[in-house]
Amino acid sequence: MSNLGAAWLQANDTQPYQLSRKQGWDAFVNSIPRTELEVLSRAQMDRLSEEELADYNEARIVWHANPPTVKTPQLARAYQVIDEVMASSRRDGSKLRGSVVIDAQPGLGKTTIATRYARDFHLRTYRRHGPLTEQGHQRLPVAFVPLSAGTTLKGLNEKILEFFGHPATGRATRTDLTRLVVDCVTSCETKLIVIDDLHFVDFRHRNGVEVSNHLKGLANELPATFIYIGVNLADKQFFDEGLIGEQAVYSQTSRRATRCPVAPFQINTDASMRAWLELLTTMERHLKLADARPGMLVDHSKEIFRRTQGYIASLTTLIDRVSYRAITSGAETITKEIIDDVVIDNAAELSQPSE
Ligand SMILES: Nc1ncnc2c1ncn2[C@@H]1O[C@H](COP(=O)(O)OP(=O)(O)OP(=O)(O)O)[C@@H](O)[C@H]1O
Ligand SMILES: [Mg+2]
Repeated sequence: MSNLGAAWLQANDTQPYQLSRKQGWDAFVNSIPRTELEVLSRAQMDRLSEEELADYNEARIVWHANPPTVKTPQLARAYQVIDEVMASSRRDGSKLRGSVVIDAQPGLGKTTIATRYARDFHLRTYRRHGPLTEQGHQRLPVAFVPLSAGTTLKGLNEKILEFFGHPATGRATRTDLTRLVVDCVTSCETKLIVIDDLHFVDFRHRNGVEVSNHLKGLANELPATFIYIGVNLADKQFFDEGLIGEQAVYSQTSRRATRCPVAPFQINTDASMRAWLELLTTMERHLKLADARPGMLVDHSKEIFRRTQGYIASLTTLIDRVSYRAITSGAETITKEIIDDVVIDNAAELSQPSE
């Protein structure tokens, strides 16, 4: 590989973070932004050797596949809600803390919101209090715990312990595991626990009710704020703990949780259209194409909305695909034909209203 190509690729490697473990979380928190790629003109590209051109294109593809996190109105609103709930977490140890529930459809940026918020919180805590607790333990202000299908109470405890790098032995009972979780969270002074993909738990079934009760127990016992994330949690009776009818009113979860919805973008009012155009403008600026021009996405804002229904995950997929096509086809810009021609995620394709 030529040196030029090596430098481009090194600056633009893909980062395989495993956020569900403290080492991966730490790498994510401390990752530095990618080095900005210079955009070469067509004439400069013509002067590259075949290999150099291939490396340059590869580096651009990686760059395009990793757009910056945009401060969308949805993200700003969610930050505000979490900030307010966290503000009450300054209550003294014995008082109960509230929790935040990010409950929304798939692909709206739920995980992005929570992980970015938690990263900022981690960095802020380190800046103020340093990497070690007073007792000399590693400080871990955040624990990130993504669940998987059919998570049981034991599985949940194991997942939390996995984050802390404290593999529980096969013989540990539930009580042991809970005690270990409390130990880890307390000694690492963890203040924010993010439980992602909670929809994998079915709160109408016995296992789910157990998990729900356990989460309540942990919330009582731990001096930490919880962010729960999931799809359709209200429908899955997360809030009312499987209770039905009038009984649901007595749900503790519902009283303690602050719900934070995340909506798709809209274009039916001036303000919502403005937010959509701002998002497209930001995304447009990120693209490294020789013939890029301002407006190459914005000019097609309505069409892109129709294709993606305002779901940010579908939008980033679309932009990723069109910019890939712009590179491989030699177009070096984005046109209506390219947008029309790429295929994106199944949900977006199936939900498209006809033209
Ligand atoms: N604020 C943002 N700025 C830029 N891109 C974003 C933003 N939020 C989300 N995305 C993009 O959308 C994709 C999906 O986001 P994310 O995984 O956070 O959604 P989710 O709601 O957690 O989805 P799921 O329900 O499938 O877990 C991300 O990979 C990212 O590319
Ligand atoms: Mg997610």
